[in-house]
Amino acid sequence: MSANLRALAARCCFDVVDCGLSLSEALPKAQAQTDNTLDKALLQEICFGVLRYLPQLEAVCSQLMSKPLIKQLRPLQFLLYVGIYQLKFMRIPDHAAISETVDAARELKGQSLTKLINGVLRNVQRNSELFNFDTAPAAVKYNHPGWLITALQQAYPDNWQTILDANQHKAPLWLRVNVSKINPTDYAAALTRAGIDYTRPVADLPAAIKLAQAQDVTSLPGYLDGWFSVQDLSAQYAAVLLNAQDGQQVLDACCAPGGKSCHILELAPQAELTALDKDPKRLLRVHDNLARLGFNANVIAADAAVPDSWWQGQQFDRILLDVPCSATGVVRRHPDIRWLRKKADIAALAELQQQILSQCWQLLAPGGTLLYATCSVLPEENQQQIAQFLQQHSDAQLQPAPQQLSSQPFGWQLLPGEQDGDGFFYAILHKKIAG
Ligand SMILES: C[S@@+](CC[C@H](N)C(=O)[O-])C[C@H]1O[C@@H](n2cnc3c(N)ncnc32)[C@H](O)[C@@H]1O
Repeated sequence: MSANLRALAARCCFDVVDCGLSLSEALPKAQAQTDNTLDKALLQEICFGVLRYLPQLEAVCSQLMSKPLIKQLRPLQFLLYVGIYQLKFMRIPDHAAISETVDAARELKGQSLTKLINGVLRNVQRNSELFNFDTAPAAVKYNHPGWLITALQQAYPDNWQTILDANQHKAPLWLRVNVSKINPTDYAAALTRAGIDYTRPVADLPAAIKLAQAQDVTSLPGYLDGWFSVQDLSAQYAAVLLNAQDGQQVLDACCAPGGKSCHILELAPQAELTALDKDPKRLLRVHDNLARLGFNANVIAADAAVPDSWWQGQQFDRILLDVPCSATGVVRRHPDIRWLRKKADIAALAELQQQILSQCWQLLAPGGTLLYATCSVLPEENQQQIAQFLQQHSDAQLQPAPQQLSSQPFGWQLLPGEQDGDGFFYAILHKKIAG
């Protein structure tokens, strides 16, 4: 079974942009329509690309059509974007890109539009000037929504363009070697023997390995034996900064799918870990990940902001709060986020984060450490959150991250692309011992 790939891509992008599905829901649905592995990869490349360049693809169309296709014809509007993206950004021969896209129109019930689609694509093929956006509005020039560009300009007056630029690049595949099973140098040697290109570029995270090319990770050495996990570089700082020790009571309060829970146990296999998440479906992944790596934890489905509903009264020595956030630091990995996230979401997220933080703080033993983490680059969710928390909690003391190169007043903000990692924020909060 194999449906027309361009039709699948158009429908997938329509599902995301117009219907609000996440790409991680919509893309597997589309990929399930083809058995061919190369087609699945091509589908992914086209959908990621269209979402990365959506404003420019829309702008090109609006130069060539009097008005966009609407209502039941919307998937065909996305098909135009799919066609233009291939012509402009992919190494598919023009004639194949155009004829496949026109064929896809028939599959999307756009028989009467094949002439129009063919005409638009031929125009794009002939006229590279259509992609000159030097004087276009910022949203088109930088392919991000205006509210996000404004927020980044305010927060990063000197380097907002670098962030937008990093978001347009493909993210590399990072592995985290499971040091409780294998030494990173031995694992690197196993990759070399398997003929896989990699680097280990970050001195303070020796278990982090960057593959030169994306791969099917299930075929890498030691997958079934739990020798490694896939995890972005910046996220690998979480368990290191938390610094849990064997025998300690540790809470990972927003744990699913469990990447950081597993890392905590890799570094301290005898820690007593409570892994909590509000979403029972996402907890299934936590169970799978723990099982694959051979760890145990007390896994609980509950609301971290309401400890009365689940807390047994034992204080924790370490707490990781990898709170729900805007995910504006991982836009390069999830190009749909910039279209799904709305400006109004930020205040609501900041409120929830503050609740989780202040409620879980009460569960931390004096002398203990709480690590607050987000994959956001917005100060409302990060530095402002910590500044407000410190004002309200005199028993809290912020500690700098040892790996931080420059001092920042309220936590450690990593920007997307820094060391080729995602955008991430960490604040290490130490609870003073009274007296
Ligand atoms: C950023 S993700 C966590 C990723 C995870 N730490 C990892 O490394 O695999 C945030 C998680 O918070 C969970 N969450 C959202 N609201 C929550 C709440 N009130 N209590 C507990 N978990 C919550 C979400 O279900 C989501 O799984």
